Amino acid sequence: MFAQLFRTKAVEHHKDSGLKRCLSAFDLALLGIGCAIGTGIFVLTGIAAATYSGPAVVISFVLAGLAAGFAGFAYAELAASVGGSGSAYGYTYVAFGEFFAWVIAWILLLEYGVGAAAVANGWSGYFINTLANFHITIPEIWTKAPSQGGIINLPAFGIIWLLTLVLISGVKQSSTVNNLMVAIKLGTIAIFLAIAIGHINTDNWQPFTPFGWFSAHSDGSNTGILAGASLVFFAYFGFDAVSTAADEARNPQRDLPIGLIVALSFCTLIYILVSGVLTGVVHYTDLNVSSPVAYALSRLGYSWSSTLVATGVIAGLLTVLLVLLYGLTRILYAMSRDGLIPAFFSKVNPERQTPTRLILLCGSVISVVAGFFPLGTLAETVNIGTLASFVMVCFGVMVLRIRQPNLPRPFKNPWNPLIPVLGILSCGALMAFLPAETWHRFLIWVGIGVVVYFAYSMHHSKLKSA
Ligand code: ALA
Repeated sequence: MFAQLFRTKAVEHHKDSGLKRCLSAFDLALLGIGCAIGTGIFVLTGIAAATYSGPAVVISFVLAGLAAGFAGFAYAELAASVGGSGSAYGYTYVAFGEFFAWVIAWILLLEYGVGAAAVANGWSGYFINTLANFHITIPEIWTKAPSQGGIINLPAFGIIWLLTLVLISGVKQSSTVNNLMVAIKLGTIAIFLAIAIGHINTDNWQPFTPFGWFSAHSDGSNTGILAGASLVFFAYFGFDAVSTAADEARNPQRDLPIGLIVALSFCTLIYILVSGVLTGVVHYTDLNVSSPVAYALSRLGYSWSSTLVATGVIAGLLTVLLVLLYGLTRILYAMSRDGLIPAFFSKVNPERQTPTRLILLCGSVISVVAGFFPLGTLAETVNIGTLASFVMVCFGVMVLRIRQPNLPRPFKNPWNPLIPVLGILSCGALMAFLPAETWHRFLIWVGIGVVVYFAYSMHHSKLKSA
């Protein structure tokens, strides 16, 4: 039985690409930027500034970016050498064997599923704000989660269903659409910065670190710059899409690191600018709102620009949502192909070429999560999952260097094992700064996953009969 748990897939088994190598370093960078810029910067910045870090949320973004960067490089090495479409799941199958691969896949489901719910929540904030600008108000009980005094966040619930239907119809994200969306999001940010920068009042940056570096409270919650970093880490979630496109990169050894560095540095710079300007124009104590960037502009008296920015965010977040939902179905599909979940789910609709049952299942669960949980809770849950899978990927790099030293590595991290070790330390630290409740939820989720593995997946794995 022990041998079964740790049976690994051969790299050859896992390489299933056959995709065209057409992406340049620039395309890769845009891919990462397109997936990363979303609810994190447009919504969580406000929550993090108001309740975790104060104006020092800028530092939280830099720290979270560093952790994401180390892990991003580890990802790039495995993506280029192991490849495949299952991301961290696939790499872990090769490096550590089936049991850990299952656990990671289970965590990835949490990440992508809850991530989509979180982005839907962010989307909902800007959607409601825009409607309000046109004097249409939805009663608060229909826009808030039960823990916030509402019944359900209906816009968040509805948008997930809308996109579920879009996915069922067979629509795929193309790099042209991605580039257009990046342009819209950056345009939106540019409008905000151009207007707001002239209204910065440096008094708003005082006190700069009202919550200090880190405090743990008796109710299990944490505050401070470090706790803020583990919340805003969400803003970097998705940028690893750069490394998962390794199979499509023209020249992975050169273009992957360039794409990663450019995407990451660019996002970090944008995050520093937006969070710095936002806390400079509105005092951090007033920023715990659902659409802070649009709110800041309307407070400054620019109501039309505020509406324009909110519309840009609404459009931009849709693409992040699609990428997450699509990613989720792709991971589930890979698991089902490996026999770890029933083949019933991976049946592809012959007409539309989409796994309809799988998409419907995802849509049903995620819409409920989006409707009934508040954004902060969702984002922290995603982060603990993402950080755990990043840690695993970093370990994977070190293990594979020892186990398979001669594996062709189109992209290889320099000074091994420095980068994976830094990744483990920084991502591990961010995990430690998350609230106790997030840990409980995470451990319960992993516990359920382990039960499912022993009850079903272990006995149905394709690897067993191979
Ligand atoms: N990083 C993405 C966002 O912030 C998921 O929306």
